Amino acid sequence: MANINALHLRHKEEIESSIQSVIDKAAFIKGDEVATFEQDLESYLNVPHAISCGSGTDALTIAMMALGLERGDEVIMPSFAYAALPEAALLLGIKPVFVDINENYLLDVDALETAITEKTKAIAAVHLFGAHCDMDSIKEIADRHDLRVIEDAAQSLGTYYQGIIQGYTGCIGDIGITSFFPSKNLGCYGDGGAIFTKSKELADKARMIANHGQNKRYYHEIIGLNSRLDTIQAAVLRVKLKYLNETLKRRISVAHFYHENLSEISQLRLPRHNKSVNCTFHQYTIECESGELRDKLQDFLKSKGVSVMIYYPLPLHHQKAYSQSIPLKNAERMSKRVLSLPICSEKTTEELEYITNQIKDFFNTIK
Ligand SMILES: Cc1ncc(COP(=O)(O)O)c(C=O)c1O
Repeated sequence: MANINALHLRHKEEIESSIQSVIDKAAFIKGDEVATFEQDLESYLNVPHAISCGSGTDALTIAMMALGLERGDEVIMPSFAYAALPEAALLLGIKPVFVDINENYLLDVDALETAITEKTKAIAAVHLFGAHCDMDSIKEIADRHDLRVIEDAAQSLGTYYQGIIQGYTGCIGDIGITSFFPSKNLGCYGDGGAIFTKSKELADKARMIANHGQNKRYYHEIIGLNSRLDTIQAAVLRVKLKYLNETLKRRISVAHFYHENLSEISQLRLPRHNKSVNCTFHQYTIECESGELRDKLQDFLKSKGVSVMIYYPLPLHHQKAYSQSIPLKNAERMSKRVLSLPICSEKTTEELEYITNQIKDFFNTIK
C-alpha cells in the first residue's frame, strides 16, 4: 500500500482535481473521462481499440465471449499464473488445458503443440511478472493450427515486445487484456480492466458484451455483463497514464538494484531478463535452491519487516477448483521455490539497501 500512497502523493493535486471534476459533473457511469481514457490508452499502446471494463477478470471473460468461444471448447494456458484465466474459462464452460512454464515463468512454447486437440480454440499467453511471452512462436503455432491468441497483460501494461512482431503486450494477439487493480503497473483506486484488439468486429462485440449486450439502450442483442469502468477510476487512470513511462522506469531501476546487489548469492536464481527480453518488473521474483530454503528466507525476511510474497504457492493444475492430474515439472518446482521481493516505483535507496542487506545477512548466517 505504501507505494500506492507514495505514487498518489507524487501526483496528488492532479489526481484529486480530476476526481473532483467527475463529482462536480455527477457523471459516474460512462462519463466523458471513460471515452477519453480509452482514447489515451489507444494512443499510448498504438492499438486501434481499447475497451474499458470492470476488472481484468471481466476483461478475460469478455475477451473469450467476444471470440465466440463456447461450452466444450479448450483454451491452452500456463499453470503457473493467476487464477483469473481458468476461472473465466470454466464459468463459460470452456476447458482450461494447462501447460508448463519455462525458466522465465512464462508459457513454455515447446509444450504447446502436444496440448492441441481438435477442441482447442485458443492459446492464452500470460505475460507474467511484467515479462513478455515469446509471441513470435506463439503466433506461428496458433496460425498453423488456426487458433486464436488471447494475451493476459494484467501484469505487463507498458512492456514492449520486439520480436519479428512488435508491439505492446496485450496488443499483439487477436485480443488482449489488462487489469487496473491498484498495485498493477497502471493501477486505479478500485477495480478496473480493459480489452485490446486490432479487430473492429471484436471491439464492437466486446464493447456490447461489457454493457449488457446492448448497442442501443434497452435493446439487448446478445447476452452480456454489467462491466464498466467507473468514471472516477477513469479520471484517476487518465492522470496516471501520463506518467506511466516514468513510473515504469523507476520500477525497472528497483529491479536493477536487486540484480546488482544479489547476483553474488549462488543459492538464488535471479530473473533472467536481459536485453532480448523486455520486462517492466511487475514483480521481482527470485528462485531459491530448494523449497526449504525459500520458506526459511521468507520467514527471516518477514521477521525483519520485509514484506515478501509468494506468487504463486500452488500451480493452477493443483488447485482444488481446477485440478488436473498432469505432471508439470517447472510449475511445480517454481511454486515451491519462488519468492517475490518488494517492488514498486517509489522504493527508496535506503529501503532497498535494507532489503538486500537482510538477504545477504541471511545467506551469510546459513553458510
Ligand atoms: C495475470 C493476471 N490476470 C488477471 C488478473 C485479474 O485482474 P483483476 O484483479 O483486475 O480482476 C490478475 C490480477 O491479479 C493477474 O495478475
